[in-house]
Amino acid sequence: MRILVIGSGAREHALVWKCLQSPLAERVYVAPGNGGTAAVARNVPVPADDVTGLVRLARKERIGLAVLGPESAVAAGVGDALREAGVPVFGPGRAAGRIESSKAFAREVMLRAGIPAPVSETFTEPGPARRWARRYGGRVAVKADGLALGKGVIVCDTSEQADRAIDDMLVHHRFGRAGAAIVIQERLEGPELSVFGVTDGRRVVPLAPARDFKRARDGDEGPNTGGMGAYSPPVGVTSELVDEVTRRVLTPAVEELARRGLEYRGVLYAGLMLTPSGIRVLEFNARFGDPEAQVILPRLNSDLVPLLVSAALGELPAHPWLEWSQRAAVGVVVASGGYPDGYETGFVIEGLSTVPRNVLTFHAGTRAVEGLGLVTSGGRVLTMVGLGEDVEKARMAALSGAVRVRFPGAFFRKDIAHEAVRA
Ligand code: AMP
Ligand code: GLY
Repeated sequence: MRILVIGSGAREHALVWKCLQSPLAERVYVAPGNGGTAAVARNVPVPADDVTGLVRLARKERIGLAVLGPESAVAAGVGDALREAGVPVFGPGRAAGRIESSKAFAREVMLRAGIPAPVSETFTEPGPARRWARRYGGRVAVKADGLALGKGVIVCDTSEQADRAIDDMLVHHRFGRAGAAIVIQERLEGPELSVFGVTDGRRVVPLAPARDFKRARDGDEGPNTGGMGAYSPPVGVTSELVDEVTRRVLTPAVEELARRGLEYRGVLYAGLMLTPSGIRVLEFNARFGDPEAQVILPRLNSDLVPLLVSAALGELPAHPWLEWSQRAAVGVVVASGGYPDGYETGFVIEGLSTVPRNVLTFHAGTRAVEGLGLVTSGGRVLTMVGLGEDVEKARMAALSGAVRVRFPGAFFRKDIAHEAVRA
């Protein structure tokens, strides 16, 4: 079978890497891919949101399975167009994908399905929004309704901060149309958790849980990023908890979408907070997490391709066969100096050949340039993944890889998964 993975991050490199291990994969294409995927699969220079370009590619290469990586592909309607062209797609259509691309829609789905979530309200006018936030003393999370590259959430401590966040979005239009409506949630406390469910629109199969680290700096300081690292399984997260998330969150969400005529085929990502009063959903995503995918997929002993194909075809078996490694995985992201704000690219990346053999290197912002080798081309450049019999060993392996990577300005967090060692 010919497989097309859509996207260009380390998540997509991990998907390609895992698909290539399958005896079912005859050939793997990536659109557009990166410097790492080019070495193992066929990069095709079609952007992840180029609907007509991707349909043309899938037809020409007789693709048997397309896998949507980023939210931009989902939101552009790549899933709908490919399915219409007869290609089995792992990834939802645009309308079902609104569970990620509209926080107001996600809120409505959660309310209707009785999914545990923070108390929240949707607003388009600043006055009522400010008054609502004041009820919580300004301890709220103000969220742009639409996609805002992970920057559309402002967690507030005071009414002044909440007023400013509300005005930024509803008065000054800082996020453009994405912030024309906002959702405000009560602010909750607790560790976060990412749980992924593979679904064919009816059945839901949970994957191993993970925790990501969103802040740029050690000690959870600095600005929010797309994710600076992740590990799996997170300390204290039992299989009973994952089952609870499947039962109370993922399955009801898929069923509620189905009731609305939206068949969801792909992976549904629940971003949760473990509060003293139980699990609460902060957000849904319509795709694999990045960097969570880089630590989950290496722990999966089973073949990924039959799982993706059966979900894409709407034929997920009742009792899937997934077998997970007992080993822990830790992923450390090496980023460009300045990320998530301004950064320079085009630096030659050195040291990759000296990365220890037991460390997996998944590329994101890398590009091969003739005569130079690999150069940086994005904010998050690589995810270095270590596996080990416990989290500490996995963590040490990942760090031993990260320190080998050299380019001007390179930085990474040294405390990813350290919480599990302390615990
Ligand atoms: P989101 O993109 O909605 O997951 O929000 C990004 C980050 O903001 C989350 O990972 C949390 O760290 C934080 N956050 C979002 N919503 C809340 C909330 N209701 N209470 C506390 N923190 C939140
Ligand atoms: N790791 C967060 C995300 O993929 O959105």
